[in-house]
Amino acid sequence: MEGIGNIDLPLKLFKRGKVRDVFEKDNQLLIVSTDRISAYDYVLPSLIPDKGKVLNQLAAFWFKYTKNLIPNHIVCDEPEQLEEFKSFAPIIEKRAILTRKLETYPIEAIVRGYLAGSGWKTYQKSNEICGIKLPAGLAFADQFPEPLFTPTTKAEDGHDENLTFEQMVNIVGKTDAEKIRDLSITLYKKAREYAYEKGVIIADTKFEFGKDENGNIILIDEIFTPDSSRFWKVDEYVHWHSRGKEPPAFDKQFVRNYLSQSSWDKNSPPPQLPNDIIAKTREKYLEIYEILTGSQL
Ligand SMILES: Nc1ncnc2c1ncn2[C@@H]1O[C@H](COP(=O)(O)OP(=O)(O)OP(=O)(O)O)[C@@H](O)[C@H]1O
Ligand SMILES: [Mg+2]
Repeated sequence: MEGIGNIDLPLKLFKRGKVRDVFEKDNQLLIVSTDRISAYDYVLPSLIPDKGKVLNQLAAFWFKYTKNLIPNHIVCDEPEQLEEFKSFAPIIEKRAILTRKLETYPIEAIVRGYLAGSGWKTYQKSNEICGIKLPAGLAFADQFPEPLFTPTTKAEDGHDENLTFEQMVNIVGKTDAEKIRDLSITLYKKAREYAYEKGVIIADTKFEFGKDENGNIILIDEIFTPDSSRFWKVDEYVHWHSRGKEPPAFDKQFVRNYLSQSSWDKNSPPPQLPNDIIAKTREKYLEIYEILTGSQL
């Protein structure tokens, strides 16, 4: 079984991200999820077969699940069925969505339910995250009584800076900042509750928003995928949190373990993954999809 790396289509290229290749046509975007995988900010030379299908279909599932809370950018979640893209089906089947191309807000709307990642780093320095004061004495991976909205800039070079809410207001305006904050928290709470029932914790997550020609705020990009969220299994959380440690990332635990015991210095082109690590990681992605959607890919 082979994965799909670079996507080449006879369309205008909008952007190649670390994992997704985005094409542009008539004010719409064709967002194609590849089988590339990144770790420690590097794209690895190995592919994880079917990973792109999992990411794409999981996001499509969540967009449907949340569509009554907020309109989203999806025009068609099976673009391979459309006449204009039919001939691309062997490449894009199950791994692409067609979306409206919107003007984007230059911020990442991050919601945190638990103290981890970069939030833990700033908490240790100053007992706050994005200007939100927190009580002293919180432990790593503790759950917050209420989710925190902790926006960042969306930098082209990938070094996003934390923003206080006031700073975000200066960038997007008060009305939109408040709407984006409230929508983000509502979306997070709804998905978190659903996932928890299935045994998965969404520790934190990131949204992007766009604005349409009538000034409506629209949910864009991808939502509640392992690339945009931190997922833990509830039972692993209970085990590791009680020992003061971070539960393993649901998706990349085998990859991270392999890379950290390898001789790679995390500062040069990363190594190939062995076949068994690829196979186990593929299983993890399929497992996430099945647990969260209740269906097979
Ligand atoms: N509906 C939309 N309209 C306009 N831009 C969008 C829309 N949906 C997503 N985008 C943008 O398309 C790009 C998708 O690229 P992608 O997420 O793969 O790369 P990236 O975020 O730059 O890098 P990374 O690989 O680190 O995620 C993002 O810049 C995102 O903001
Ligand atoms: Mg992105």
